[in-house]
Amino acid sequence: MLKTPDTTLLRTVGEERAALNVIGGRMVGAQSGARIEVACPSDGKVFASVPQSGEVDVDAAVRSARQAFETGPWSRMTAAERGRILSRLSALVEVHADELAALESRDTGKPARQGVADVTAAIRYYEYYGGAADKAHGDQIPFLDGYTAFTSREPHGVVAGIIPWNYPLQILARVAGAALAMGNTLVIKPAEDASLTSLRIADLALEAGCPAGVFNVVTGYGGEAGAALSAHPGVDYVTFTGSTGTGTAIQQAAALNNRGVTMELGGKSPQILFADADLDAALPVVVNAIIQNGGQTCSAGSRLLVEKPIHDEVMAALARSFSALVAEPHHADGDLGPLINARQAERVAAMIEAAEKDGAEIVAQGSVADDAPEGGHYRAPVLFGGVDPLSQLAQEEVFGPVLAAFSFEGEEEAVRLANGTQYGLVAGVWTRDGGRQHRVARRIRAGQVYVNAYGAGGGVELPFGGFGRSGHGREKGFEALYDMSATKTTVFRHI
Ligand code: NAI
Ligand code: MG
Repeated sequence: MLKTPDTTLLRTVGEERAALNVIGGRMVGAQSGARIEVACPSDGKVFASVPQSGEVDVDAAVRSARQAFETGPWSRMTAAERGRILSRLSALVEVHADELAALESRDTGKPARQGVADVTAAIRYYEYYGGAADKAHGDQIPFLDGYTAFTSREPHGVVAGIIPWNYPLQILARVAGAALAMGNTLVIKPAEDASLTSLRIADLALEAGCPAGVFNVVTGYGGEAGAALSAHPGVDYVTFTGSTGTGTAIQQAAALNNRGVTMELGGKSPQILFADADLDAALPVVVNAIIQNGGQTCSAGSRLLVEKPIHDEVMAALARSFSALVAEPHHADGDLGPLINARQAERVAAMIEAAEKDGAEIVAQGSVADDAPEGGHYRAPVLFGGVDPLSQLAQEEVFGPVLAAFSFEGEEEAVRLANGTQYGLVAGVWTRDGGRQHRVARRIRAGQVYVNAYGAGGGVELPFGGFGRSGHGREKGFEALYDMSATKTTVFRHI
């Protein structure tokens, strides 16, 4: 385990210091020496920098992962030993939980408690996959007389994980947990807007006993380091969470080498409130599902379908809630923090403006705290009512604190509208009618359906992924182990 003083950057939040890539167990800068400034979204101030890696750095990381996969101690370890390393990583993340939560919160602008929630989930992911590593086994298959046939789960080899900025700790943990449990080695490319905790976790993975080259992290821009990684012939499998357009580009790059991919691409997830719903339980969840992380959540509940008889009552109650919401700096731990960067804040503002031009009505808005620093990327939460279900606002991901509400009449229309986008990630169904709970849940095209509840957040055990434009493949839960491995069939003839 090689430590340089620079790695302490990630332990001492507050100093402007230069973080390094983790390649082959070493902390190294980009070969070009180029760096990307790391600014805090709450005030826009630069507090650190990360390497701006290019093709050569990505190539070094992939080679190191390849070597670790083929010839390193990792390739000879039992599944139980790999599991033990992940369990130790879980314990180390717990030891450093406060530091990681603070770093994540500062790097992304998310409220302090969300940083804590993200670390808590990361601890669970490494714990879960540590325990699962030696439990993903194959089958013995009844075959011809005189033969024995069985299947086993083989690692893909080198897995590339391209991680977004909204939940870096959590998304890295679900990717790395499942990939390492199955015996793959990793090259991670975090988002240029939030790379720090990924570097820190790779450092902790070394401390947990991950052999050099198993867990590599190269930071850099998507179009540069990310593109080089997804097109690299030394990569065997690519997993990505992020925008639909970037997902398409990554799939095209991976297709040049005929590599498998897992794609988690966001959504326009509906919450359906039937007239018999328990509104006291539902409404706080509806609000949280769109403002959590400033709405920058793939599974954000961004469409609200309200049954006609309760429409006015629900909108009035939500208007009261939205008017009271305040966006504040991450450390104030308010209702929501700033958005990740100026581009995202502009994008959200433009979508709000376009929706108004489209005829959607702003029913209520929250506010930005008076003392929020000028340089921060704040957006007040917005509740839109009477939205046309076919309008851009109801069809496209905003990725900000913007809820699009509209009404429906009866179960049939609810299902049709809920399924009426190209996405299919998550849905919430609120009704006390047991038969309707099952009927509607069954008919909704989404990777996860919640009844009288909502939120993928903490559910480490629950398989997660999309239909349609929301992507394909499944992460989280035991299912992720299947995505992170391939079935091998072995046949013996009894001669
Ligand atoms: P993005 O999808 O472009 O970025 C996600 C990751 O992909 C980052 O690590 C980035 O560096 C990398 N990347 C970008 N271009 C790449 C390329 N050509 N090849 C390989 N990797 C590449 O998302 P961006 O631009 O930061 O955000 C824009 C929109 O994307 C958001 O408004 C939101 O709608 C969506 N998004 C969805 C997320 C989700 O959880 N589903 C997460 C982040 C963004
Ligand atoms: Mg940042």
